[in-house]
Amino acid sequence: MKRAVYPGSFDPITFGHLDIIERSAKMVDELVIAVLRNSAKNSLFSLEERVNMITELTKDLPNVKVESFDGLLVDYMSQIDANIIVRGLRAVTDFEYELQIAQMNHVLKDNAETIFLITNLKYSYLSSSLVKEIASYGGDISKFVPAQLMNRIYEKYNVNRENTYEQ
Ligand code: PNS
Repeated sequence: MKRAVYPGSFDPITFGHLDIIERSAKMVDELVIAVLRNSAKNSLFSLEERVNMITELTKDLPNVKVESFDGLLVDYMSQIDANIIVRGLRAVTDFEYELQIAQMNHVLKDNAETIFLITNLKYSYLSSSLVKEIASYGGDISKFVPAQLMNRIYEKYNVNRENTYEQ
């Protein structure tokens, strides 16, 4: 059984993440989206909110599971018997950091292999941080996140946009 993890903060999940999820799910038997309980980072959404949002958005993908993890990714992978890590690469700027993490994970767990998927060109500029920044100023985030998430993001910033979006 080829089980892969797609780890991340997903705060919030974007179209870029969803694209990586859909494409990588086709390459493995099971894809576990592993949401980091990032206590050090100040996340906009709680762990439970992030897991619930991703579960809702991936409910039609039969081999995709959403879980959370704490601590080292490699330890979590050993617990769930996974040895493939999926990460998206947007630009050269991602590469250096991702290479370092991939090599470190491989040293920590010698059967851990990282697979990089090149982000779809239409999402190559996208990041959760930028989505949050735009939403905090009341900007339009409809091109970046699914419609079901938009109001939930605006609500975090007490932004009332004139057009409300379908939940
Ligand atoms: O979405 P992000 O914030 O870019 O994801 C980063 C993530 C979750 C993949 C990375 O921070 C991680 O794996 N954290 C868990 C702790 C860990 O294993 N760190 C050592 C990696 S060398």
